[in-house]
Amino acid sequence: MNYHLAPSILSFDLTTLSTEVPRLVAAGASIIHLDVMDGQFVPPITFGDVLASNLRQHTNAPMEAHLMTVTPDRHFDAFIKAGCKRIIFHIEATAHAHRLVQYLKSQGVEAGIALNPATPVEAIENLINEVDLVLVMTINPGWGGQPLLPFTLEKIKRIRAMRPDLDIEVDGGVDPTTLPEIIKAGANVFVVGSYLLRAPSLEEGVKSILGGFP
Ligand code: DX5
Ligand code: ZN
Repeated sequence: MNYHLAPSILSFDLTTLSTEVPRLVAAGASIIHLDVMDGQFVPPITFGDVLASNLRQHTNAPMEAHLMTVTPDRHFDAFIKAGCKRIIFHIEATAHAHRLVQYLKSQGVEAGIALNPATPVEAIENLINEVDLVLVMTINPGWGGQPLLPFTLEKIKRIRAMRPDLDIEVDGGVDPTTLPEIIKAGANVFVVGSYLLRAPSLEEGVKSILGGFP
């Protein structure tokens, strides 16, 4: 099992990303996590494919789009064109998740499916052999800096038991204090946002997360 840090730039000053993203990558981050919010699926609005495309000019690191949007498929092509290698959409946002996963795979990108805290694992049971990654929300989506909801860890355990080889990503409230229990539950990809800004430096923040990997 490979372990990965996926920094979320949600809480960053967006005007600094051309320097901060390369620093995160140089320090050991694997993939840049882009939180796309449309003001409908979740109340806030963040950014779109133009930011992804602009960031592409400043880093060769892989990028993933976490689409917290209604009609997620409306945005697939734009984020693929912008250079995202993985597109993650919410099971709660579509009645046609299976078809959407097939579409993403046909376009040569990885397909990830995300579950809100209140969504049971059963909702993705019929997709589990089709997706490249499951993203378990350990907070309610929309805002960085919230504490991890402990009951969500049980879902990670159940998904890991169903697919021992699958990439399982955790998003929300990840920091060096919560990391051990999340790893124990079976996740291997870790979105980290506000903790990196609370750390003495980005480099030290990345180092403390990577230092907690098995
Ligand atoms: C929230 C986003 C997260 C967020 C995590 O809806 O999906 O990626 O940035 O932030 P922290 O690490 O601060 O919980
Ligand atoms: Zn996210």
